[in-house]
Amino acid sequence: MTDAPDTVLVVDFGAQYAQLIARRVREARVYSEIVRFDTPASELLARRPKGIILSGGPKSVYADWAPAVDPAVYESGVPILGICYGAQLLTQQLGGVVSRTGRGEYGRTALTRTTTSTLFADWPPQGPADVWMSHADSITEVPTGFVANASTPEAPVAVLSDAERHIYGVQFHPEVVHTERGQELLERFLFDVCGARPLWTHTNIIESAVAAVRAQVSDSHVLCALSGGVDSAVAAALVHRAIGDQLTCVFVDTGLMRTGEADQVEATFRSQFHMDLIHIKAADRFFGVLQGVTEPEAKRKAIGETFIRVFEEVAADVEDARFLVQGTLYPDIIESGTRDAATIKSHHNVGGLPEDMAFALVEPLRPLFKDEVRAVGEELGLPEEIVWRQPFPGPGLAVRIIGEVTPERAEILRAADAIVIDEIRRAGLYRQLWQSFAVLPAVRTVGVMGDERTYAYPVVIRAVTSDDAMTADWARLPYELLERLSSRIINEVDGVNRVALDITSKPPGTIEWE
Ligand code: XMP
Repeated sequence: MTDAPDTVLVVDFGAQYAQLIARRVREARVYSEIVRFDTPASELLARRPKGIILSGGPKSVYADWAPAVDPAVYESGVPILGICYGAQLLTQQLGGVVSRTGRGEYGRTALTRTTTSTLFADWPPQGPADVWMSHADSITEVPTGFVANASTPEAPVAVLSDAERHIYGVQFHPEVVHTERGQELLERFLFDVCGARPLWTHTNIIESAVAAVRAQVSDSHVLCALSGGVDSAVAAALVHRAIGDQLTCVFVDTGLMRTGEADQVEATFRSQFHMDLIHIKAADRFFGVLQGVTEPEAKRKAIGETFIRVFEEVAADVEDARFLVQGTLYPDIIESGTRDAATIKSHHNVGGLPEDMAFALVEPLRPLFKDEVRAVGEELGLPEEIVWRQPFPGPGLAVRIIGEVTPERAEILRAADAIVIDEIRRAGLYRQLWQSFAVLPAVRTVGVMGDERTYAYPVVIRAVTSDDAMTADWARLPYELLERLSSRIINEVDGVNRVALDITSKPPGTIEWE
């Protein structure tokens, strides 16, 4: 890439607001990064940002320990946009007044513009605009040098600006889809106020990743553990584009994959991309270590350790392999000042190998959000089935087989799961759902089929909507679809005589059963 992308920094005041803003900025093809609110101004400015956006946040500017940005940024001349909490913060820090009026606004609100503004340049010239509000305190007096540009019924100052100093604030959330033309407002800030250039294109993302990988690994050999999922697939395709035959991919078939996954990996990486692919069929070994293991964490541990051992054996045979590809994404590394991270389950990630392996990591997806990873995958020519595949846990079907994992029970679940995926696809719901799959409980129930008593397993259907897997809701699947699923699973899968539906959200449930 000839030009480094112009960067806009998003200062994170907590909750999930900053991530959404950063994604919207990138949708405008401007590179954005999230930074902690307590980063000193000197550090922020050393990044030479074209603009700084102050995000919303859950606190009041009057709360104890209310997070604040280093006020030196206001003197830097770098354009600033405060959103919600960010707007109130800049008002307070620059000498205006934020009042606890006791009259908040939540949800859709009509915005009345009282002046023109660069930010409104793409909006219809007149009439109220629908914006999305979520605030308790209100800005009641603008700081010296600022003008109020718009109001709502409960917010006398809903937009404020000091065009000379390039500082703007909006009380509403332009980043949410419910704000009509919010994206256009953000673009006017990015392009007209900041003068940022839309250089963060998929082609440029690929070019810069390729250049970075080449510079990092030079002529060494690189290993990549493929899982069949989108992240490791896109990471492998990017690294392959950078260094071709210096990359060796390893696909460990644990016997706990979904139907057709191994074939798809072969077809894509060996036949289409002509990659050096080592395909290890290790199902017996995995079922061996899982024998008699029923406790969920013990299962996860057994699978994780076996995976590492198998991978180590393969790696030892690849000459001069000094690097390992890892599909780390940007949301995995965002360091928020406010997020807590209680461990509910010990996640096993393919490629998430232990520190004591003597590899340096190659992480070509590190700057990317998931939607960017998918777009890059499509651009690199990966098949739609891989690019849009729903997430699948590292330990595979094992965390959906309650009780002991045996080859027979894995076969039952794999067959039921294939029917779930097939019917969900036919119903056109596959991409809308975060995940949809089958679970095999460790009980058997009585049934009757063709005048015969049966005593067999139930299968539970789990389908959820979610944005990030942190929270999820159970999907309201159409009755006709549920009827087809029930009938097909019972008729086509030996060993199953009953189908149930999981109607638990997260929290209190988790998405997977183990
Ligand atoms: P839970 O069950 O905790 O899952 O609600 C949240 C998301 O994480 C996936 N998951 C895993 N992914 N390795 C992974 O790479 C794992 O060990 C693992 N366990 C759960 C799960 O499918 C869901 O999308």
